[in-house]
Amino acid sequence: MTIPRPLIAGNWKMNGSLAALEEARTLAAALSGKSVRVAICPPSTLVGPMRQALLNSQVLIGGQDCHPEVAGPFTGDISAEMLAEAGAVMVILGHSERRAAYGETDDRVAAKVGAALRGGLEPIVCVGETLDQRKAGDALSVVTAQIRGSLPATLAGRVFSVAYEPIWAIGTGLTPTLSEIEEMHLAIRATLGDVFGTDGSSPLILYGGSVKPSNAAEILHAAEVGGALVGGASLKATDFLGIIEAV
Ligand code: 13P
Repeated sequence: MTIPRPLIAGNWKMNGSLAALEEARTLAAALSGKSVRVAICPPSTLVGPMRQALLNSQVLIGGQDCHPEVAGPFTGDISAEMLAEAGAVMVILGHSERRAAYGETDDRVAAKVGAALRGGLEPIVCVGETLDQRKAGDALSVVTAQIRGSLPATLAGRVFSVAYEPIWAIGTGLTPTLSEIEEMHLAIRATLGDVFGTDGSSPLILYGGSVKPSNAAEILHAAEVGGALVGGASLKATDFLGIIEAV
């Protein structure tokens, strides 16, 4: 199993509208001929329209969450199968904003990862520590425990990514030092090896948290950084392209 490297994925969070599809079109046009793997994860209402807007483009489309079940009495939720039918090929799971706002536990994230596989979506599983945990010297133990708890054994041999997103770096303009990023990504790689054996060398480990055109090159070239999960800077095609061009 080889996974094309890098992956640059944009998480639009609860932003965007039909008018914003123009940004996606501009991005797709500028990427034509480039071999980098790029994804946009818009709000679920835009997955279908974005697929239509990006027909024949290389930009992949993803969801931002999915429910563990295929269908049922889960008001407000969306299943992996629904996202796939609308045009998604991947899904972000366990983002810290969902872990914090909806009390998502590692077990719950693992169940969603299983659902993503069942629905044919490539999971991007997010992990990351708070500032207090980093200051207390617990960042590595917190993140490696999240990895062990959030990645079900059924991922062995499957295509997936882990996104390391320090919570204190999200939307703040702050980023860890390069050596902190490398230390964490190496620890995640070692944990993937513990959990999945030789299959643990394949998944990409993305970095997320205040990635922008001006810091993308050094982050993307750090050890074990297999791409980026980008929030705010993915909303404007010019900024997102600036990051993609740093690959
Ligand atoms: P920012 O790039 O806006 O810091 O967000 C990162 C993120 O949460 C991506 O999932």
